[in-house]
Amino acid sequence: MPNKIEADFSSTHHDINIGINEQDRKALCKGLSKFLADSYLLYLKTQNYHWNVTGKMFQALHVLFEQQYKDLAEAVDEIAERIRALGEYAPGSFASFSRVSSIKEESSIPTAEEMIQNLVIGHETVVSTARGLMTLTEECEDDVTADMLTQRMQVHEKYAWMLRSMISANKSH
Ligand SMILES: [Fe+2]
Repeated sequence: MPNKIEADFSSTHHDINIGINEQDRKALCKGLSKFLADSYLLYLKTQNYHWNVTGKMFQALHVLFEQQYKDLAEAVDEIAERIRALGEYAPGSFASFSRVSSIKEESSIPTAEEMIQNLVIGHETVVSTARGLMTLTEECEDDVTADMLTQRMQVHEKYAWMLRSMISANKSH
């Protein structure tokens, strides 16, 4: 015999009905989980560098990395909540992130210049993962996810440019 609360929940349960079928929602969430994993590991890497950067550029990089990891912290929350809105559970452990992420972790502390280079690669990786999902969002008519990905691509392309500019002063770009 179900208690009163269970009875109330079961009477109000119904399947998600937002105009995207279950198969498409699952495919979108699979792609978004990889995007979340990439973003989260880039967040951790950026915060790690904020803590551990040394050298003449310390102040500038310490501040820049802080700006970037704070942006990433908000972004991962938004991405995870989009997965929930599409009906799946969001991955939330380093084990699950490491399984699907393309972001590589280091075991030692890089130099300041290597940090910048690694973050450029990290932002480019996240952009590529997002761009790779755009066709699926079009096929599934998921404009909300497409809009979120477009905004994230804009931010990561800008960060990649800003970081690239710090180490390519002698080149034309
Ligand atoms: Fe700090």
